[in-house]
Order: sequence, then C-alpha cells, then structure tokens
Amino acid sequence: MEKKIETVKILENKCIAEDVWKMALAYPFDAKPGQFVNVYLNNKDKLLPRPISVCRKEGDILTLVYGVVGKGTEELSSYEKGCKIRVSTPLGKGFYIDQLESGKSAILIGGGIGIPPLLELCHALVEKGLKVEAVLGFRKQPFLIDDFPCKVHLATDEGTVGFHGNVLDLIKTKGLNSDCYFACGHKAMLKAVSEYLPDVQVSIEERMGCGYGACLGCVCKIKETDEITRKKVCQDGPVFWGRDVVWDE
Ligand SMILES: Cc1cc2nc3c(=O)[nH]c(=O)nc-3n(C[C@H](O)[C@H](O)[C@H](O)COP(=O)(O)OP(=O)(O)OC[C@H]3O[C@@H](n4cnc5c(N)ncnc54)[C@H](O)[C@@H]3O)c2cc1C
Ligand code: FES
Repeated sequence: MEKKIETVKILENKCIAEDVWKMALAYPFDAKPGQFVNVYLNNKDKLLPRPISVCRKEGDILTLVYGVVGKGTEELSSYEKGCKIRVSTPLGKGFYIDQLESGKSAILIGGGIGIPPLLELCHALVEKGLKVEAVLGFRKQPFLIDDFPCKVHLATDEGTVGFHGNVLDLIKTKGLNSDCYFACGHKAMLKAVSEYLPDVQVSIEERMGCGYGACLGCVCKIKETDEITRKKVCQDGPVFWGRDVVWDE
C-alpha cells in the first residue's frame, strides 16, 4: 500500500507499567504483525516521526504500546483521549507467516519493550491454527502478559516473578522447542537468541529518519549467500532471519 500520513483520534492513552504506555487509535487501515507506524508529534520542534510497532489491530482500533525513553515518547504520553495525532499507514514488511500451516508449533521470544509486536503475531498464529507458546522477559515489572492468547513462560532479570534470569536461559532450562521461532527485543538478546536458534525471525530496531526508505538512516548489514549487503530496516525489514543479521559492528 502507498504510504500516507493520516490524522487519527486517540481513544485511550494510559500507563500500564513503569514508563510503559498503551495508546489506542481509531485507525481504519489493514496492518500486519511486525509492521510499524510512524507517529508524528504535535510539537513541531520534533520533526522526525517515532516508529512504533503494531501491538494489536482489532477492527478499526490500532493499539500501540511504547516505553517512555526520551522527549518524543514523553510528549506522546501527555496526549489525552479525544486528541488527534498524525500517524502513517503501516510500514515495513512484518513477520513471514503466510506459509505456516495449521498444527505446527511456534515459540515467540520477547524482551521488555520488544514484546508488543509479538501480541498481534500471537493472535495471527493462533487464528491460523498453530500451537503457540510465548517466552517473555522483563527487568522487573511484567506487562501485557494476560493479553497473550497462549501459554506464557515468564522470566524477570531480578527474579521478582517467574524464572530468575533471561529468556534464553529459560528456553534452555525448560528445553522448549518448536517448528518456528520469532523474537523481538534489544540487540544483545536477539544476537544471543539467533546464535542458539539460527532459524528465528527477528524484528530489529535502528534509529530511523523518514521510516519509508528515503533517507538511508536505518541501514543494517545482512548476509546474502556469500555477500554482506546493506538493507533498510524500515523498508526491507524490520523483520529478518536471525542467521543473516551481522550483529557485531
Ligand atoms: C521498527 C521499529 C519499531 C519500534 N517499535 C516500538 C514499540 O512498539 N514500542 C516502543 O516503545 N518503542 C518502539 N521502537 C523504538 C521507538 O521508536 C523509540 O524508543 C522512540 O523513537 C524514542 O523516541 P524519543 O524521542 O522518546 O527518544 P529519543 O530522545 O529519540 O531517544 C531516547 C533513547 O532511546 C534510544 N532510541 C531512540 N530511537 C531508537 C530506536 N529506533 N531503536 C533503539 N533505540 C532507540 C536512543 O538511543 C536514546 O538512548 C521501535 C523502533 C523501530 C525502529
Ligand atoms: S528510515 Fe529513512 S531509509 Fe529507513
């Protein structure tokens, strides 16, 4: 679909965990799991849009879940229900799930603010008839876990709830395995998961400018046969095969 910027209404914007917010938007556009939208801030001093993943799309409602990490997301958290904001139509390619068959099993591996895009993916896989389990890791305070329509294995770095440790240690300790794997989280986690499970699909993040292929601000290195090529995370990704990503730079 051609990329457009639309003005949409905020239906809800609330804090769901420490520095984590959930925003629901009236958004009548199709969105696939793993795609993201560019959110434009109303304060014109902040020109660059903030890319945020599709967390859930139900009917004409798009839910985004975002961490407040800087000035842009702080401003986003100040917007109230009923306010209007400019948001792009869905961007990026999303997860590769078309070929997956009913009856297969899938494991979703998420860390912290990388968990939101796995929720829409989980719903899509369950609807396709896959047996899905999610392994979700948090520093301290979990969020969204009750929204996953599948068995959830929980890990926290500080051992406050669930397994004491990271998601990969939890997978190894429980001996979890499946026909396919999907992961989203910080780079160190995705690198470790990809080394252990080379066939994992990973959704990666880079600092972005335009968000739709025009500025080259988001390039990453990807192995293709014997060559290393530069790909745009916003247009060619954000989902790649873990085995193809060049992690060390
Ligand atoms: C494809 C994609 C999907 C994303 N989905 C989500 C999501 O669903 N929920 C969510 O909370 N965040 C998501 N992000 C990250 C989000 O875009 C940034 O956190 C946000 O733009 C920060 O804006 P800011 O003005 O608040 O912070 P800034 O002041 O711009 O930066 C604050 C801190 O965040 C870091 N940061 C900023 N942008 C990124 C980035 N793109 N990747 C990694 N670190 C960054 C900066 O290095 C800095 O340390 C996504 C990013 C991409 C590229
Ligand atoms: S963000 Fe501009 S090309 Fe990707």
